[in-house]
Amino acid sequence: MNKIKVNLDKKISASYEIYIGRKILDRIGMIIAKNELASRYVVITDSNVSDLHGERFLRTLSDMGIQADMIEFPAGEASKNVDVMLDIIKKLLDMGVDRRSALIALGGGVVGDLTGFVASTYMRGIPYIQVPTTLLAQVDSSIGGKTGIDLSAGKNLLGTFYQPKGVFIDLSFLQTLPPREFNNGMAEIVKYGIIEDTDLFSLLEDEAKTIRNESMVLLETVIGRSCRIKKSIVETDEKESGLRRILNFGHTIGHAIEAESGYSLSHGEAVSIGMAAAAMVSEKLKYLPSRDMERIMKLAEALGLPCGIPDSLSTEGILSRLKTDKKKQGDVINFVLLKKLGSPFVSSEAPEEMIRETINMLKGR
Ligand SMILES: NC(=O)c1ccc[n+]([C@@H]2O[C@H](COP(=O)([O-])OP(=O)(O)OC[C@H]3O[C@@H](n4cnc5c(N)ncnc54)[C@H](O)[C@@H]3O)[C@@H](O)[C@H]2O)c1
Repeated sequence: MNKIKVNLDKKISASYEIYIGRKILDRIGMIIAKNELASRYVVITDSNVSDLHGERFLRTLSDMGIQADMIEFPAGEASKNVDVMLDIIKKLLDMGVDRRSALIALGGGVVGDLTGFVASTYMRGIPYIQVPTTLLAQVDSSIGGKTGIDLSAGKNLLGTFYQPKGVFIDLSFLQTLPPREFNNGMAEIVKYGIIEDTDLFSLLEDEAKTIRNESMVLLETVIGRSCRIKKSIVETDEKESGLRRILNFGHTIGHAIEAESGYSLSHGEAVSIGMAAAAMVSEKLKYLPSRDMERIMKLAEALGLPCGIPDSLSTEGILSRLKTDKKKQGDVINFVLLKKLGSPFVSSEAPEEMIRETINMLKGR
């Protein structure tokens, strides 16, 4: 089992460890028991994860002498809302959960974001632990303390920065993860390789065909490197006032494409296309060498991630969604672009016509 420390704000109390390993449930239970964070725990999870892993997880905790209950809600992004949040809070109150208790988020990003938000507000804040079970949650959403829920006006509009007391990543959970969900996490891993770690990028190029199912050892290495990148960016910019924005590489156009597809494209597919678009814009602006742009597209495709935009999506529709974003941020579209692999920067240089041309070129791909 590997251990990575997240050092925040130079305050020991805000810092925490990320534990990574395979089949480490027992050890997770042992560490939680030893840390004595709370006198009782409530595991928050969704219906899918509860069916697949809930009972075993609760048993592991009780074997370690930990008093734990479980609350589950229907799986899916549609549950990341204020009604489900209030329902969880009501159940916590009915259970008599008080400030000596802690929450455990067992699930993907939806469970993590919702649980973190409840923890940050329940009785003015109680501790929580992340046990991420999707690849996306393991390499991204469980680290960094961004919590939140969606409102009808948009995603993640209500939330807090509230760090967990620990993150426990057990790769065994990934064995039950559907391939499309796996790809959502893979797109974020490719992003880390592109923006920060060219060795990781090369490793992915070499191992694109084996990483999916054959080598858990390799996957553990890749998850570990991804966690290190996310944690070091979060350490430098916990509240996303600058550097942390580079994590949005591929996400600006990606979100517009995902929404324009009516969410028939998954988040990972849309981010992959968004990264291809950001690479192409970087190349058109004469920053990124063509060779690097080609490498990015080739890697995505080797991993089974798309770079082409479906013909059925309207170019003007995608552009108008980008412009809605633009209004929110003042008068410019800020893109994360690349000077070269491993060197991202935030720029508003890309003219609308260049973005239109890029979208149309990717439609032909
Ligand atoms: N806080 C952050 O920094 C941050 C970063 C990125 C994304 N997010 C948020 O994360 C969410 C997306 O996360 P996600 O992709 O994990 O989605 P998710 O939590 O909805 O999980 C995806 C699906 O996989 C199922 N699942 C989870 N673990 C499983 C397992 N081990 N086996 C089988 N099925 C399993 C879930 O029930 C769900 O149906 C979004 O709401 C997004 O806004 C947050």
